[in-house]
Amino acid sequence: MGAETKDQAKVDLSKGIAASTLPDGGMILGRVGDDDVVLARSGTELFAVRAQCSHYRGPLVDGIIVGDTVRCPWHHACFSLRTGEALRAPALDPIPCWRVDRQGDRIVVREKLPATQLSPAAGQRPSSIVIVGGGAAGVAAAEMVRRRGYGGPVTLISADADPPIDRPNLSKDFLAGEAQDDWIPLWPNDFYVEHHIDLMLNRRVSSIDTAKRTVRLDDGSEREYGALLLATGADPVRPPVPGAEDDRVRYLRSFADSRAIVERAATAKHVVVVGAGFIGLEVAASLRARGIAVDVVAPESAPLEKVMGIEVGRFVRSLHEKQGVTFHMGQTVARIDGRTVTLSSGASVDCDFVVIGVGVKPSVALAEQAGLAMDRGISVNEYLETSAPGVFAAGDVARWPDPHTGERIRVEHWVVAERQGQTAARNLLGARERFDAVPFFWSRHYDATINYVGHAERWDDVAIDGSLEALDCSIVYRRGGKILAIATVGRDRASLEAEARMEA
Ligand SMILES: Cc1cc2nc3c(=O)[nH]c(=O)nc-3n(C[C@H](O)[C@H](O)[C@H](O)COP(=O)(O)OP(=O)(O)OC[C@H]3O[C@@H](n4cnc5c(N)ncnc54)[C@H](O)[C@@H]3O)c2cc1C
Ligand code: FES
Repeated sequence: MGAETKDQAKVDLSKGIAASTLPDGGMILGRVGDDDVVLARSGTELFAVRAQCSHYRGPLVDGIIVGDTVRCPWHHACFSLRTGEALRAPALDPIPCWRVDRQGDRIVVREKLPATQLSPAAGQRPSSIVIVGGGAAGVAAAEMVRRRGYGGPVTLISADADPPIDRPNLSKDFLAGEAQDDWIPLWPNDFYVEHHIDLMLNRRVSSIDTAKRTVRLDDGSEREYGALLLATGADPVRPPVPGAEDDRVRYLRSFADSRAIVERAATAKHVVVVGAGFIGLEVAASLRARGIAVDVVAPESAPLEKVMGIEVGRFVRSLHEKQGVTFHMGQTVARIDGRTVTLSSGASVDCDFVVIGVGVKPSVALAEQAGLAMDRGISVNEYLETSAPGVFAAGDVARWPDPHTGERIRVEHWVVAERQGQTAARNLLGARERFDAVPFFWSRHYDATINYVGHAERWDDVAIDGSLEALDCSIVYRRGGKILAIATVGRDRASLEAEARMEA
């Protein structure tokens, strides 16, 4: 996580503060009764909201104000200062607001305000909404259509056995044994009942008829839709390694996958992780937290090299080596025979089980069957609409025209998937809103969190400001002089400011 809230004495905001102590764009952490509250100023306007973000309780006082919004320093959620609404994921729930009075040169925070009721969105209303996929994009879309006042039937169909979950946690706290099972669902089951979302689990949509506007499920039943969202995500790549079909070889995408790894980890002493991307490395870190010896095997010369460059890759490797991880870089797995993993060099490593994390491929079979236009994923326009009328796509599966790079891109980031789900939801209701959010992701390695804004598949210049070793730096990726992406370690505010500049 990012920096903790500074341990400053909390002023009693109900007694008031001198207006001169709160500059434009400034925030003060205080309390009102038992609540921690942030008092914020934007221009001449004053706002008071709960101090903790509704995602993972990040300290909003360490974030930034942009217009009448506050941005969370940890994973860039954005809240309206006027209403407390969680305008952008990863936070989905609102935060409470308080009334603020100006009395001469003093600012006083009064009573907590009732939750704002959003007025239903204008625009055409589909007769029903079907969402295929109960992951980040699908669940954010289901919540958003209800938040925007849609009253028609909403069906959320998921091939997963579990209700929608906080997927990023599966390779982090949950796998490390630091989060309990009940932390993982995004909402309790009641949420879907209360919001009249028909959540169908363990069900796969097997075909779509875009002319008749129906989906067919794996049990043969059919559902009509007025508007359809495809949010089928991605599946782990299964490399054709002899022996990789063995039960000792695990992949990580679902809650069930993570539970299965946890179960094996309970008695394991040694694990081989194949792949040095984000998921492979997070699995390595979590298994080290359980005291298990970990060997990582990957073909690149440094971990994360393709995404973040060689300098960051070497630094991340050193972080893991300090924690006892052994790397076999520049190597692939030749075969797996029970407990023995043979590498391309001929060397072998004995282990209790293997986790393969060598990337994912978008789950496009359904879209291909439906005859939608494809482009290494489902091709969507700036409104996230596919080539079929009334059919939208969002998340890992969608390739969209990104206004920041000027390229059509597809990314595999939690926050992007949720934000696309939210934009698609508003467009399902007729909003015609462009998806123009700056891509953002985070990844955690022990006490270092990397935040990354923008998108750079290729760059011709990478400049590091600060020190990776001191966990205090920004890394700027440019092509042709243009900044494409900025990664930060220990500089959450700089990451938020970079995102705001790119948005502008
Ligand atoms: C272990 C792990 C850790 C991660 N950590 C991070 C992180 O730290 N930061 C970050 O930015 N990103 C992270 N990611 C990536 C992030 O989780 C994904 O980008 C995000 O989940 C994509 O959302 P999605 O809705 O597109 O797909 P998913 O969340 O994968 O959801 C797809 C859904 O579609 C369903 N489905 C597929 N086909 C069908 C069908 N035919 N019928 C019905 N349902 C179907 C699936 O069952 C699933 O419910 C992580 C991913 C994993 C696996
Ligand atoms: S804690 Fe605020 S966005 Fe995650």
